[in-house]
Amino acid sequence: MRHIEQLCGLLGVAALATASYSNRLDYARRFPYAAPYDQSFLEGYSILKHVGGLGPYSNRMSYGIGRDPPDGCVVDQVIMIKRHGERYPQGSDGVKIEAALDKLYSSKITEWKGDLTFLNSWEYYVDSEGFYGLETDTGPYNGLLTTYKHGAEYRVRYGHLWDQSSNKTVPMWTAEFERVVQTARKFGEGFFGWNYTDSVALNVISESADMGANSLTPVCPEDHLTQTCKSLSQDLPAFHVAADRLNKQNLGLELNSTDVYQLMFMSVFELNVRGYSDWTDAFTMDEWKWFGYTQDLIFYHCAGPGSPFAKAVGAVYANASLTLLNQGPKKAGTMYFNFAHDTNITPILAALSISSPAEDLPVDKIPFPSTYEIGDIMPMGGHLTLERLSCNATTATKKGVYVRVILNEAVVPFTSCQEGPGFSCSLANYTDMVNKMLPDFVSECKINNTLPQYLSFWWDYNTTSTFNHQTARYIPFQGSTFV
Ligand SMILES: *[C@@H]1O[C@H](CO)[C@@H](O)[C@H](O)[C@H]1NC(C)=O
Ligand SMILES: *[C@@H]1O[C@H](CO)[C@@H](O)[C@H](O)[C@H]1NC(C)=O
Ligand SMILES: *[C@@H]1O[C@H](CO)[C@@H](O)[C@H](O)[C@H]1NC(C)=O
Ligand SMILES: *[C@@H]1O[C@H](CO)[C@@H](O)[C@H](O)[C@H]1NC(C)=O
Ligand SMILES: *[C@@H]1O[C@H](CO)[C@@H](O)[C@H](O)[C@H]1NC(C)=O
Ligand SMILES: *[C@@H]1O[C@H](CO)[C@@H](O)[C@H](O)[C@H]1NC(C)=O
Ligand SMILES: *[C@@H]1O[C@H](CO)[C@@H](O)[C@H](O)[C@H]1NC(C)=O
Ligand SMILES: *[C@@H]1O[C@H](CO)[C@@H](O)[C@H](O)[C@H]1NC(C)=O
Repeated sequence: MRHIEQLCGLLGVAALATASYSNRLDYARRFPYAAPYDQSFLEGYSILKHVGGLGPYSNRMSYGIGRDPPDGCVVDQVIMIKRHGERYPQGSDGVKIEAALDKLYSSKITEWKGDLTFLNSWEYYVDSEGFYGLETDTGPYNGLLTTYKHGAEYRVRYGHLWDQSSNKTVPMWTAEFERVVQTARKFGEGFFGWNYTDSVALNVISESADMGANSLTPVCPEDHLTQTCKSLSQDLPAFHVAADRLNKQNLGLELNSTDVYQLMFMSVFELNVRGYSDWTDAFTMDEWKWFGYTQDLIFYHCAGPGSPFAKAVGAVYANASLTLLNQGPKKAGTMYFNFAHDTNITPILAALSISSPAEDLPVDKIPFPSTYEIGDIMPMGGHLTLERLSCNATTATKKGVYVRVILNEAVVPFTSCQEGPGFSCSLANYTDMVNKMLPDFVSECKINNTLPQYLSFWWDYNTTSTFNHQTARYIPFQGSTFV
């Protein structure tokens, strides 16, 4: 064991547990070549950071700001919106994937070679069409498991906000879409444990555009999302190089750049199902970097800061949560757990100017560094958490109420408001700032005045547990465009 620890130290590889030594000095004396601080920082080389929002959850790379409340502060209210957990490909994507696989197999190659040698034994991971679109339930990153764990972790972090003695029902809110509802339930089971059934009232909010602003999935009727998105090219030089390489290794194979994109897309979902994918190594890290960038472009232009509609859409949640924060825990309650899709959360970030690049993302090259990497912003299970902090005075800050934004477990301070403890923003300044930056959803999106004009379900929720568990086979899909 000691040898291994010393070797690791010499190589500058991750430091091993120092817990059994009384302090770092003691440890350093015993293992003088062991590095107590990890020098590798390999996140940038992890496939998980280059698969856009399609692959397993990973925490956002942090700025090194402590995740726990700053000294002298307690969280007195938490407001979260979470995307569903890891899932299978959508049915519509399944069609494209199966076409690419057909092309591969119709080449009649009997012995795969080179980077595709694994194909001699590989099999597609979707056993039945019925799985398309659902949460995964196998492998280390499966959506149901990771969501349950997230619930259990948040119980440790925010359990003090649940007043069990009051016997009050705790409402939670979910968009009406099968995998999103299942995610809400698993999170609830993780958080409330034995008490989930009796303590929670899951409110299921329709995804229909007729909900106007009273929705977790509001839309601008004029936003023809898919058109802008489809015009974004995936025919990139990097994918031509990959096609050329694989074709040369396997005579008779005639993949083109589109096929390469589809196969990369397919292999990312294998991580959600099996946890690993032999396909990962069939492409180079540079090719994965480009693949990730195609996803950044889609979100940036279609549901992020580059969309002419996203800020107005995101303003609904940003404004309503501002009301909750100002009402505070006594009036509004302490816990607001909400569940929706990626393209419902990226507009909220855009509305709050979180992770918004100063300039439009270029289509022909990758900006280094980039502030808009969707794998870091909205992976499967991605979530935006607003913490209301009640703080004592420090020598630099006043006693009072502060707000922190946490994206995928990394604290994200505002450049223009970070004077509070732990780089937080005072509630008063947050309120000013947000009120100034938010557009008006109803007027910008020309919402018919016969439809709900603001979000009200956080205040007029149902307290029944009817939807806490699956009653029918599936909650219908509603033909939504969200993923
Ligand atoms: C704030 O100060 C009060 C009075 O000194 C103390 O009881 C309380 O524990 C402090 N809160 C935190 C979070 O440190
Ligand atoms: C939670 O479950 C435990 C064990 O059944 C029970 O004693 C407790 O009263 C429950 N709390 C609530 C709020 O239902
Ligand atoms: C909470 O519910 C339990 C079981 O129904 C009951 O015994 C208890 O008195 C209730 N507590 C309050 C504060 O209503
Ligand atoms: C690649 O081939 C498919 C048919 O197998 C075709 O639909 C697609 O347009 C081709 N892509 C390019 C970039 O030529
Ligand atoms: C903001 O939210 C409040 C309360 O939730 C609501 O009364 C108001 O109409 C909303 N404003 C906008 C611009 O949506
Ligand atoms: C709030 O804004 C005022 C005016 O810009 C500034 O002086 C103050 O430091 C800010 N306070 C916090 C806690 O951000
Ligand atoms: C608003 O909705 C009503 C009722 O559906 C409809 O009659 C009216 O034409 C709509 N107005 C606009 C501007 O779309
Ligand atoms: C509450 O339940 C009623 C009756 O089922 C339904 O019409 C309403 O939309 C529900 N409200 C929420 C916020 O779920």
